Amino acid sequence: MSTGYAVNRVGILTSGGDAPGMNAAIRGAVRTLQCLGIDCFGVRHGYAGLIRGDIIPLDEKIVRGITGRGGTMLYTARSKEFQTSEGVLRASENCKYLGIDGLITIGGDGTFRGAHALSELGDVKVAGIPCTIDNDIGCTSYTIGFDTACNTAVEAVDRLNDTMQSHERCSVVEVMGRKAGHLALNVGVATGATIIMVPEVTYDFERDVVERIRTARLTGRNNFTVIVAEGAEQGQSVATKIQEKLGIETRFTALGHVQRGGPPQIRDRVTATCMGYRAVMLLAEGQSGRLVAMSGDTVIDHDISEALEMEKPFDYDTYNSFSALTFLDRNFFAGII
Ligand code: F6P
Repeated sequence: MSTGYAVNRVGILTSGGDAPGMNAAIRGAVRTLQCLGIDCFGVRHGYAGLIRGDIIPLDEKIVRGITGRGGTMLYTARSKEFQTSEGVLRASENCKYLGIDGLITIGGDGTFRGAHALSELGDVKVAGIPCTIDNDIGCTSYTIGFDTACNTAVEAVDRLNDTMQSHERCSVVEVMGRKAGHLALNVGVATGATIIMVPEVTYDFERDVVERIRTARLTGRNNFTVIVAEGAEQGQSVATKIQEKLGIETRFTALGHVQRGGPPQIRDRVTATCMGYRAVMLLAEGQSGRLVAMSGDTVIDHDISEALEMEKPFDYDTYNSFSALTFLDRNFFAGII
């Protein structure tokens, strides 16, 4: 039966690394679809599930109470098969077979490349919702999950700092972020780290790590924290080199997947809910190949192929403030005042 909207049956999937807030986005979309009277299905295991036809009906009852839950109730995966044109074709044909004429894809960069390929075939209208702890999607100032992951990492580093202070040690902490340093930058600033290493900034180990720790030691510090983005360096090798070169007892911690779990923070719950709503409205209006995004505090949307071309700027202002404050660089202030 036709709903009077541009879509009659919408599938929702989560793909790539999970992020806190995915469930809230699913719920936001499902509730909006129900209000509009549009059929709603969950596609399990991301694009792999779309290729296999692994779908379940979704309604308001099934998504009740999931806003505050981490992970994704639909499971997620990185499908190799979907990265081939045959896989995309199979998924598209499955949509036709299942009567799915709209698809909401929740995830990161890889998810949207897949969504773009699928929308190009024209069988299904597609809208994407950016959801990754990396905050590395160019077209949006914010991706769902980032705030929660930052908070989780900050809490862990605060705990590490207590024990490093007691033992007068150096702590090297590796955080996630894929090829970007947004997570590392925010965690480093929020925990008062001695050094933050991100892929966007090149380092001379002797000058930017060894000398900086030495300088901090001369000012009376006896414990140090180095936050290393996984895309910048191997945290373990940074720790080994610091111990060797400075003779400071150093401990390495990789925070790993703990950063991806846990109940989403308010920002992620609210953003996800609003983006879920927006994605449905785009499809209901008949738009396709759109990517929901944030511009400051406002929800907007972009053409997906244009969005995929955009690069996420690194926040050099924050990075430079951090550097200036950490090393009390009088030259830096002399240059601006
Ligand atoms: O993109 C999210 C992310 O957590 C990255 O920060 C990290 O590099 C990657 O996923 C880890 O992937 P996996 O869960 O497959 O180990």
